[in-house]
Amino acid sequence: MDADDAIGEILVSAEDLERRVCELAAEVSRDYAGKDLVLVGVLKGAVFFLSDLMRALEVPVELDFMAVASYGSATKSSGVVRILKDLDAAIEGRDVLIVEDIVDSGLTLQYLLRNLGARNPRSLEVCALLIKPERRKVELRTRYVGFEIPNRFAIGYGLDHRERYRNLRYVAALKQ
Ligand code: IMP
Ligand code: MG
Repeated sequence: MDADDAIGEILVSAEDLERRVCELAAEVSRDYAGKDLVLVGVLKGAVFFLSDLMRALEVPVELDFMAVASYGSATKSSGVVRILKDLDAAIEGRDVLIVEDIVDSGLTLQYLLRNLGARNPRSLEVCALLIKPERRKVELRTRYVGFEIPNRFAIGYGLDHRERYRNLRYVAALKQ
């Protein structure tokens, strides 16, 4: 299949992404005024969302990253998660906001919340650009959500299919 043939309908336009990211940044700035905010980006998919969100924040903020791999197929996670890269710094007593590209089953995030929660941050919340409510398998508190999308495999604005399409300016459905 030719590469461009895999890009299906647009799920979230570049304009809607830009507007919503600014709204989320305003909410986060208000909620974290006077706190000790650390954004924890989940590599690699969250990088685009994270960098746009962080630049729009108006409160002091630090940045750290985690990389995790969930065992499973290219389009489905198993919930068994392996840490590929851990945080550089301790988060005990700090206000941690996990920044994720997409919450699908929620299994990856459930693991991250348990793992980071065990390090005794003062607070621990989630900011996810996209959620797929139909696919959710576990109850999770996602304090900030950009968009709810239908049960389609999404690509673009950081989201990949086999490492490609992350550089699209919009979020599209993968044609499969
Ligand atoms: P979960 O554990 O099922 O919630 O899956 C979470 C991870 O799977 C996300 O952080 C993504 O890396 C990946 N993922 C889930 N759904 C999609 C999708 O529609 N497009 C691209 N990646 C996805
Ligand atoms: Mg991810």
